[in-house]
Amino acid sequence: MADRRPRRGRGPAEADPPGTALRRAALRLLDAVLRRGDPLDIAAHAATQGLAPSDRAFAIAIVSETLRWMVDIDGLIDSATEQILPEDVKSRAVLRLALAQLLVLKTAPHAVVSTALPLVAGGPRRLVHALLSRAQQEEWKLPDSANLPEGVAERWAAQWGDDIVALAAASWSAPPPIDLSFASEPADGEWADAISLAPLHRRLPRGQAVETMPGYQAGGWWVQDLAASLPARLFGEGKGKTLLDLCAAPGGKTMQLAAAGWNVVAVDSSTKRLARLSDNLARTGLSAEVVQGDIRKWAPDAPVDAILLDAPCTATGIFRRHPDVLHRIEPRQIDEMAALQAELLDRSAAWLKPGGILVYATCSLERAEGEDQIAAFLDRHDGWTVDPVKADEPPPAIVPDGEGFVRTLPGLLADAGGLDGFFVARLRAPSG
Ligand SMILES: C[S@@+](CC[C@H](N)C(=O)[O-])C[C@H]1O[C@@H](n2cnc3c(N)ncnc32)[C@H](O)[C@@H]1O
Repeated sequence: MADRRPRRGRGPAEADPPGTALRRAALRLLDAVLRRGDPLDIAAHAATQGLAPSDRAFAIAIVSETLRWMVDIDGLIDSATEQILPEDVKSRAVLRLALAQLLVLKTAPHAVVSTALPLVAGGPRRLVHALLSRAQQEEWKLPDSANLPEGVAERWAAQWGDDIVALAAASWSAPPPIDLSFASEPADGEWADAISLAPLHRRLPRGQAVETMPGYQAGGWWVQDLAASLPARLFGEGKGKTLLDLCAAPGGKTMQLAAAGWNVVAVDSSTKRLARLSDNLARTGLSAEVVQGDIRKWAPDAPVDAILLDAPCTATGIFRRHPDVLHRIEPRQIDEMAALQAELLDRSAAWLKPGGILVYATCSLERAEGEDQIAAFLDRHDGWTVDPVKADEPPPAIVPDGEGFVRTLPGLLADAGGLDGFFVARLRAPSG
């Protein structure tokens, strides 16, 4: 949507060039993520209000690529300015967005420059103009891999080693492919362009609009990263037994479990996210009992056969598709999430029948939300054991660790498009 409104203090002849409104929205969105710490997908709604869908998508793409490449873009900016621009000044934000357009999205330079300058009206326009001209004249380039923010690189090096940091950087450098999960195995010949890395899975190159893909309305499949499909795979067939799917929305795992024959009770505290879960169930024709409740207070009427606790977490494992997380999440939030997860684990453990199975999962690359969380749980709960995941349970190439947990790290299946970072543990309640 072109923004042709004259801005305050200028005549109509100086109206903003077409495309400025969406860059203004991108600037608001980047500020919401970096200064307020808001998640990109949540902040996007308010920041891009009033834009046409294609402009909205472009504004979000600019911010996503800015966040993905921000460490390297900042390096270029700092190498070209005599005085380091403060982290939070508008000119740095405008330059970050403009350089992401020039160097990543390959937007036409005249469109980038003409829409960047109105964003610094009354500020250092000359500096911004000079720097963007230099970027073009000197043909600035980004490295092959987008560097991780320093604090994240240090934290992950301490937890997983330098090689994993390098693999994470490589896997962060481009958005991931699209994974689909199916309720039943598609017929031979269907999805011929896709690869299958596991039963009921197909992987497609990124860039396709999901709603226009074959069979979307018929509902035989849903979008779900292969790593996110692992926890539900560890329950096997349900045969009508009852499973509590705790923290269930928007329902990727609920649909897997319902398709596998479980009588699923899907509980989540978020009404909005549960509405998406219900829409997903309606589209796929799968069924589950849907319950709105905060599991710190809610409890089931009777003990159940199995529980999936897909706990709220920092989501640092899904950094490829949510490049904002690595800029927002700090040690304090990891500690807060770990404390919440411990509370949810302790409560839900009491709801299993003797000998029942509890699968705990997080899409986090922090040990505090995975391995360390489970070690502390086992210390607190006598009689509970790890039910080790066997080598042939996950899809090939995903090998359980020495304790029988599934931990997917950056670099896994890299040649096939990679995988999100996940932790999954299967625990067994005492038999009575
Ligand atoms: C990782 S997401 C769940 C993803 C979901 N299992 C799926 O496969 O689509 C975590 C969910 O936990 C929910 N949640 C967070 N705190 C909760 C609580 N105290 N009680 C119930 N649900 C909670 C959030 O609303 C969010 O939907």
